[in-house]
Amino acid sequence: MCGIVGYIGDKNSVPVLISGLSSLEYRGYDSAGVAVLNDGTINIRKTKGKVENLSALLLEHPVSGKLGIGHTRWATHGAPSDTNAHPHFSNDEKIAVVHNGIIENYQELKDELEAEGFKFSSETDTETVAHLVDFYYKENNDLLEAVRKTLERIEGSYALGVICTDYPDTLVAARKESPLIVGLGEGENFIASDIPAILNYTNKAYILDDRELALVKKDEIKLYDINGNEIQKEVFTYNWNVEAAQKSGYEHFMLKEIYEQPKVVKDNLAKRFTDDGKHIVLDGIALGKKELKGINQIYIVACGTAYYAGLIGKYLIERLVGIPVNSDVASEFRYKEPLIDEHTLVIVISQSGETADTHSALKLAKEKGSRVLAVVNAVGSSIARDADDVLYTLAGFEISVASTKAFSAQVTAMYLITLHIAQELGKISEKDFTEIKQALEKLPSQVNDILTKAVPAIRGFVNKYIGSKNVFYIGRGLDYVVSMEGSLKLKEIAYLHSEPYAAGELKHGPIALIESSTLVVGVCTQEALFDKTKSNLEEVKARGAKVLAIAMQGNKSIEEVADDVIYIPRTHWMLTSLLANIPQQLFAYYMAKDLGNDVDKPRNLAKSVTVE
Ligand code: AGP
Repeated sequence: MCGIVGYIGDKNSVPVLISGLSSLEYRGYDSAGVAVLNDGTINIRKTKGKVENLSALLLEHPVSGKLGIGHTRWATHGAPSDTNAHPHFSNDEKIAVVHNGIIENYQELKDELEAEGFKFSSETDTETVAHLVDFYYKENNDLLEAVRKTLERIEGSYALGVICTDYPDTLVAARKESPLIVGLGEGENFIASDIPAILNYTNKAYILDDRELALVKKDEIKLYDINGNEIQKEVFTYNWNVEAAQKSGYEHFMLKEIYEQPKVVKDNLAKRFTDDGKHIVLDGIALGKKELKGINQIYIVACGTAYYAGLIGKYLIERLVGIPVNSDVASEFRYKEPLIDEHTLVIVISQSGETADTHSALKLAKEKGSRVLAVVNAVGSSIARDADDVLYTLAGFEISVASTKAFSAQVTAMYLITLHIAQELGKISEKDFTEIKQALEKLPSQVNDILTKAVPAIRGFVNKYIGSKNVFYIGRGLDYVVSMEGSLKLKEIAYLHSEPYAAGELKHGPIALIESSTLVVGVCTQEALFDKTKSNLEEVKARGAKVLAIAMQGNKSIEEVADDVIYIPRTHWMLTSLLANIPQQLFAYYMAKDLGNDVDKPRNLAKSVTVE
């Protein structure tokens, strides 16, 4: 979603802002801009399109100054355009504002401000903030107070950066439900919506919480609550380094991240077992026998790919532990009055830790008295900070919008959580535990095996199926769940219409859509269900579909119905999803690449969805 970066120091802010905005490109955006203060004047340069368009504009019409704010906008109110791009000015051009989030009561505020004589030039909700700050600033020329009063009036979510011509040494920032950090440099300071934007300069930052403000000067930072009281916070140190945010020779971040998966899975398994190998160790999770005994249901809530990782958890926990597990996408959960209470364990899953719907679901669960376990990748993120327990997924930076390594890390986490709960509640024998542990330990090399061997075949399939317009992904049980993830990946980066279906459900309607040009990806790694799914593949084959199957080594009879097969190494039934997903990722990647799509920044999508 939108990105913010701000700088105050002795350097020219423009290169800092541009490099920061470039590092935030992965989040998805459609326009970019900067506002830079110099000699009592704020100059704004902004344009529709990429940061490189902004750089070109700055070459043509250069600006410089030691205080500046920059923004990448993902359109919500008003189309992507030069005018709607941020920053936005007050009418007298004394105040400039960048904003992430949504001002829900902007229309009401706009009417009020227009009645006061303020003129609007854009269709954005953000412009109301610029005029409101201006309105309050005129009361007593106090910038911090003007922003604070503005925050009291606006409803919705915001991360804000504000500068004013009367304050050439000050940047004001504020946050509610949209991430914002204040980076600490030496003789210079920063604001950013995400750490990559400033990682070239510092890895230390204050993480603002909801309804907090910051007054940032080059060698001083003061933090305030919404009532204007000064507050103290701990400095957070990010362990991520700059290389993690680079492609390291890969053509795309997505491909790099796909190839990082053996290491990611290995890292997620390392130190997760006691020395004797007989128990799971989950640091940061106080969910022992006593707490688990008081739980009578589990709810898993997340969005998109993270939700599918959660669904895998649902299947496994129900089967191994025998506790009912409900699951919901967070945008539904938060408005449905879920039947949860203090006897419910709610597991939320999020790569970014900032997804607005998932964060709201977490808050709702806590209001209802449920214990919340968050499975999160981004350390220090809002979801991680607000949950009762956190299991970090240790996938490192995930830059590509299409989530790959984070999914594998989340699935590994679900394996560990399932085993932990099963063991604490005495639902798994030592023999079964050992068998699954041994299978888990083979996963990193098995993922590597697929990555090493499957690419030529997958590139061949892509070549063959590149004309496909409709793709079904089918499977049963865990295979059905992982096919949902395969289908999502193909939609989001290859822009192909694709639907996941429970293989047995196909004949209750959707089989009517099957014709000779349809591609059906059949995931059949669950041996107990293999014959059933194979029969369903026969049914689509008989209606002319082309069948691409993903099966476990040794199940050669799949070749009787499939046009092409990708085999994954043999593993325990519980663990096939992680392996089956690797060829799905490669298939989506090469399809998108060969179709000429922008793989890492697919159209209309954002990496971190911080609005509803
Ligand atoms: C995955 O490829 C997607 N881009 C998307 O579905 C993502 O998984 C979802 O928005 C949830 O994000 P989160 O894990 O950061 O909460």
